[in-house]
Amino acid sequence: MTIYNLPIRPRRLRHTAAMRRMVREIQLTPADFMYPIFVVHGEGVRHPISSMPGIAQLSVDEAVREAGKAAALGVPAVILFGIPAEKDPVGLENFAADGIVQQATRAIKQAHPDLLVATDVCLCEYTSHGHCGIVRGEEILNDDTLEILQRVALSHARAGADIVAPSGMMDGMVRAIRRILDEHDFINLPILSYAVKYASSYYGPFRDAADGAPKFGDRKTHQMDYGNVHEAIREVKLDLAEGADMIMVKPALAYLDIIRQTRELCDVPVAAYNVSGEYAMVKAAAEKGWLDEKSVVLETLTAIKRAGADIILTYHALDAARWLG
Ligand code: PBG
Ligand code: ZN
Repeated sequence: MTIYNLPIRPRRLRHTAAMRRMVREIQLTPADFMYPIFVVHGEGVRHPISSMPGIAQLSVDEAVREAGKAAALGVPAVILFGIPAEKDPVGLENFAADGIVQQATRAIKQAHPDLLVATDVCLCEYTSHGHCGIVRGEEILNDDTLEILQRVALSHARAGADIVAPSGMMDGMVRAIRRILDEHDFINLPILSYAVKYASSYYGPFRDAADGAPKFGDRKTHQMDYGNVHEAIREVKLDLAEGADMIMVKPALAYLDIIRQTRELCDVPVAAYNVSGEYAMVKAAAEKGWLDEKSVVLETLTAIKRAGADIILTYHALDAARWLG
């Protein structure tokens, strides 16, 4: 056998599973996850979303059970999306004291006080036109929408939310929400801003799940153009200046470069949303036997963390937590 003069051999550290485990740089844990839950009116309701196998719209009692599973698996947080009983141009249930998210927040906090409840703050699931803001003609009005977002965030705070997460990409939304929360003494309630949210086709299945597709037009006048990167820097800086406690990048998988850049730009926790379309692709291929779900999911979530995410919002949270445990 020829002995090559090869002192440096990276393979030495890959030789056994124990060695690989010891030198692994990124350790995914259930503590990294935030689990999205869709809440509907009713009792004992588990209405499956066909484009998101394993995910369902849940009534409050079922949402409490689902949240309990997350807590038991060591997932620290859930994020709630509400489907109202009725929709109207403003989305009145969105800031009603007994709205669906407010009910679910109270029930989950009561049953699982140590589990963090985050709430999505936007208009699109509640408005009859499906837009993230107040609409005049074809226009989505920015500043009129801020007032609604303030009411929504305040009502979530009053229901006991631990984190409010504005997702509508309205200019000034973080400042407006910070102001109203502080005025009502919720000075310690953090804002997780969807600061860098691209207008993405990967949201398709979510719009079935949350019944929030726009009835006309699209979201391109507020969500970002996926061809842009400097714009993401601007959005992050702005939201930090407005008082965001945490910054989200969304979607995740096609935007790993943006996650990395955001991580390097800011000194607050960075969240990344592994969105519905990313989930649907993996589930569909796995169902066909075209890829191995468990290993693809763990690889993907590790990649999102490696890119710089401290928190990963993912529909795989319960499965991944089980596999990691
Ligand atoms: C609503 C909202 C959306 C998502 C989270 N909050 C949809 C959208 O902006 O159209 C997408 C989440 C997902 O696809 O999993 N503003
Ligand atoms: Zn919206």
